Amino acid sequence: MKGVVLAGGLGSRLYPLTKVTNKHLLPVYNEPMIYYPIRILVNAGIEEILIVTGGNNAGDFLRLLENGKEFGLKHINYTYQQGEGGIAAALSLAEHFADRDKIVVVLGDNIIETNIREAADEFRKQKEGARILLKEVTDPQRFGVPVFEGETIIRVEEKPAKPASNYAVIGIYMYDYRVFEFIRSLQPSERGELEITDVNNFYIREGKMQWDILNGWWSDAGTFESLQSAGNMVAKTGANKI
Ligand code: DAU
Repeated sequence: MKGVVLAGGLGSRLYPLTKVTNKHLLPVYNEPMIYYPIRILVNAGIEEILIVTGGNNAGDFLRLLENGKEFGLKHINYTYQQGEGGIAAALSLAEHFADRDKIVVVLGDNIIETNIREAADEFRKQKEGARILLKEVTDPQRFGVPVFEGETIIRVEEKPAKPASNYAVIGIYMYDYRVFEFIRSLQPSERGELEITDVNNFYIREGKMQWDILNGWWSDAGTFESLQSAGNMVAKTGANKI
């Protein structure tokens, strides 16, 4: 199983912090943001990792991360996303790297207290399909929100005005090789992006989506409020606990 960290996009919600650097290089308490998603993958036993980045400061990732020695890795792969076409557009750049293997995708601004080892092990055993992680939140309208029928997710709605549940689909996704075929058939959403929620809905419609609840806290760090609260939580409890 391979890992992909998506660190493209322009981080416009954090302007002017992102005027001269990439959002994922900003500090979250005592480390650059990108360290946290990389550790999520490493702690799940994944050693082959691709970073998708973009914008004007892509070279800084190489200077910061080098070959991943800091994380116990022998090598890190990098690729470049032109523009800001959406999460699924960034992921499409990982097709050659994935080479039909299963992948775990982590959004570059997602930070967790613990780890995803159990879910990743379940996905290693899963013959096909996808797996998402959910977390109960107080502001589901900011996220992808699952709609349940009993224990089954019947669809995910992206940033719904009236959320059907109090759960967010967090930015850690596990996919089989078919994900790239699904991305190819996507149309841009109203915000002009290829949406990861639409990818998840393909798997859901085929009855091939599994889900778990994440242990410990989870935060994104893409707005001033969430960047600050993520830093506070890391300072208080630490992150990426094994
Ligand atoms: O954090 C979890 C949420 O992330 C999910 O609940 C939503 O379903 C999902 O759409 C996403 O929502 P956001 O609107 O918060 O995503 P955002 O545009 O902030 O992008 C998150 C990360 O994805 C970003 O830190 C880098 C990567 N990305 C994003 C875009 C738009 C790229 O690599 N390329 C892109 O073009």
